[in-house]
Amino acid sequence: MRLYDAAKPLLFQLPAETAHETVHAALRAAQGTPVTSAIERRLAVDDERLRTTAFGLDFPNPVGVAAGFDKNAEIPRALAALGFGHVEVGAVTAEGQPGNPRPRLFRLPEDRALINRMGFNNDGADAVGPRLARADVPVPVGVNIGKSKVTPLAEADDDYRYTYERCADGGDYFVVNVSSPNTPGLRELQDREHLERIIAALVDAGASPLLVKLSPDLTDAAVEEALAVVEDFDLDGVITTNTTTERPASLRGVNRAETGGLSGKPIEERATRAVRFVAERTDVPVVGVGGVADAAGAYAKIRAGASLVQLYTGLVYEGPTVARDVNRGLLDLLARDGFEGVEEAVGADLN
Ligand SMILES: Cc1cc2nc3c(=O)[nH]c(=O)nc-3n(C[C@H](O)[C@H](O)[C@H](O)COP(=O)(O)O)c2cc1C
Repeated sequence: MRLYDAAKPLLFQLPAETAHETVHAALRAAQGTPVTSAIERRLAVDDERLRTTAFGLDFPNPVGVAAGFDKNAEIPRALAALGFGHVEVGAVTAEGQPGNPRPRLFRLPEDRALINRMGFNNDGADAVGPRLARADVPVPVGVNIGKSKVTPLAEADDDYRYTYERCADGGDYFVVNVSSPNTPGLRELQDREHLERIIAALVDAGASPLLVKLSPDLTDAAVEEALAVVEDFDLDGVITTNTTTERPASLRGVNRAETGGLSGKPIEERATRAVRFVAERTDVPVVGVGGVADAAGAYAKIRAGASLVQLYTGLVYEGPTVARDVNRGLLDLLARDGFEGVEEAVGADLN
């Protein structure tokens, strides 16, 4: 029996955010100690065929931690020790902020899903930036940048720029997050005019590689508009997708009517379709996220055009061995289909 099979029922008795904090505290305590090295030896899958390069960075494997799990950049090294090939910290905002009142994170175990309305709770760029610069992480670290709640939409560009400048030293890539559903008006920033202003400010400040993270709730036309901005500014990649405010009729969890963004299994197919939609329309690397919890799911996104995948909800349901299991399974799937390495499989399902 895996350790997580024993721990999960106990963790799942706790309110979801308390369970998250418990796991966080354990990883924080283990980070940098011999325990982490021991974990790393068990969980890191070191194989040439998993290595990949995207937006100028080298990744030991294609499976990363999605934004939101380590909002304050406290445990990137411990997450790398779990076998993840990159870690995206944040969202970080210019101002530190408490986020929405609790409870604001809900499990839907029957659906292998979560609903959250965290609202960008984080310590703020002045605290997170220096912490990140001190962190010694063996895999690429992305910084997911959000807008402070107090900042009007019209001043969002300065807000994003401020955060970038504070986090520039510690991040390997940067993400304009205009797709979280829990900051009022944020998703309006995905429209062309707003997005152009924010990106122009970040490019001017030197942000590179720079990616944009999109919502699954955009219309096809809106995604195409966003991709036009990616093209115009010669950006380095697109992350798709964030959580959805929609609620599929199939949801069974008692928490399904909670307000917030839905993640996990119920958004998996939709996110994979979004990867394909974006990959068919752009040459920049696509990072596929949404419902990945096993090798088959990661592989589907890779074949649909994702150079990298990320997960959050899968970590909650599958536990700390998920990166190892996905990576090992990917090696089997690559061998089955005759690919020499993961890079060869990227976009294999595209016409
Ligand atoms: C509790 C929670 C907090 C999140 N916070 C952020 C965030 O700060 N920034 C962001 O871009 N995405 C955030 N996300 C979205 C995830 O990064 C990811 O896009 C989404 O959950 C879909 O992936 P998953 O199905 O693997 O969880 C959050 C997700 C959850 C569950």
